[in-house]
Amino acid sequence: MEPKVASGSLARTTARGKARRSAVWSRSGSTASSTDDSTRSRSTASSAGNVSVTGVARVPSLAETMASLERARQALECARDAYHREVSVNDRLARPLRDLRISVTDRCNFRCTYCMPREVFGADFRFMPRAELLSFEEIARLARLFVAAGVEKIRLTGGEPLLRRDLERLVAMLAEVPGLRDLTLTTNGSLLARKAAALAEAGLRRITVSLDSLDPAVFAALNDVGFAVSDVVAGIEAADRAGLSPIKVNMVVRRGVNESSVLPMARFCRERGYILRFIEYMDVGHSNGWRLDDVVPAADIVAMIDAEAPLVAASQNYAGEVAERWRYRDGSGEVGVIASVTQPFCGGCTRARLTADGQLFTCLFATAGADLREPLRAGETDSQLTVRITGVWSVRADRYSELRSEATRRLPKVEMSRIGG
Ligand SMILES: C[S@@+](CC[C@H](N)C(=O)[O-])C[C@H]1O[C@@H](n2cnc3c(N)ncnc32)[C@H](O)[C@@H]1O
Ligand code: SF4
Repeated sequence: MEPKVASGSLARTTARGKARRSAVWSRSGSTASSTDDSTRSRSTASSAGNVSVTGVARVPSLAETMASLERARQALECARDAYHREVSVNDRLARPLRDLRISVTDRCNFRCTYCMPREVFGADFRFMPRAELLSFEEIARLARLFVAAGVEKIRLTGGEPLLRRDLERLVAMLAEVPGLRDLTLTTNGSLLARKAAALAEAGLRRITVSLDSLDPAVFAALNDVGFAVSDVVAGIEAADRAGLSPIKVNMVVRRGVNESSVLPMARFCRERGYILRFIEYMDVGHSNGWRLDDVVPAADIVAMIDAEAPLVAASQNYAGEVAERWRYRDGSGEVGVIASVTQPFCGGCTRARLTADGQLFTCLFATAGADLREPLRAGETDSQLTVRITGVWSVRADRYSELRSEATRRLPKVEMSRIGG
């Protein structure tokens, strides 16, 4: 089945959204009831071209109504695309700004060995002080400016985003941003069983959960805090029940560590209809001791799965999609690979990143960010902040993954937990 890709504006499923919708209905209902009924049905019918010879309105069939709605939706999409082309800011390699990842905290309750190894992120590690974090109001204001500058999709991340207290309040604020097409979140799933319903209620549409193995021992060793895999699975199930679908599952594969988990994970996700994305182990930051030999190439992973359950290449869901998608030949779902090491996709990168303390980065491997918090707190206007954002994007030329070499390995880089994965 074709996975549904969020398009169109965020349809609110929240109680608030429903209440607002019913208020609109009752308002139009009361207006209508104050007019003459026969006049109303005649004028409605003639505008739809549905007046019969006797002058009695013909009620459009369900199929006709659906067709009209679909035409209206397409017209809205076209208008929105035109608007985005109009406001679009391109970088020096002609890449438009379309995605924003917002890190809401640099803290995490896991110590994944490939991301926050405990030797570096130990008890004396200095995380961002609370006062340095952007408030939800500050994040929402910047998000509005990014969307007005062409961003269509926002992903909340971290660190572990669900550690940020009352995150659902931020979700609700972002769900209200006009023009935002897709709002999602990446989590390690540890707090998801408790939070899924509230996040969905606040307006989150879908979710990505990171899970690197179903084997309790392998998983506990990878997260390095002994967290139980069954609790993450319970979180995924809660998200599914809350309607945060299609559920995506991210699995980083590291040679000699969790290759044996690839097939069990593929079976698990296929049976349950989750979209599994294998991520090549990347050289982000300096703390994980990355070596090229530890990377299991995406092509090997695809071959491994294909040998058990034949796959067929699928097209991109949208321009700039980083995952290469593969469908099971029998129609039972799909898997994807994010091959940022062996098949870099910098040419189509439309993504900016905002750290929890308000630094704007234009590449996961960038060496420095542009500070937005200081000018924001100093009282700059929306237009001044927009000039900063578009200014940073328009001079961007990074394509680190395409240039990756021994020389670039030594460049200073930001840790994934800070910049937001
Ligand atoms: C940094 S985490 C932040 C969100 C959340 N804590 C989580 O784990 O899903 C975002 C994603 O980055 C991935 N990641 C972290 N370090 C990585 C690395 N060195 N190479 C590839 N992916 C990595 C994680 O597996 C996760 O899917
Ligand atoms: S990958 Fe996510 S869960 Fe693991 S240490 Fe990094 S931020 Fe935490």
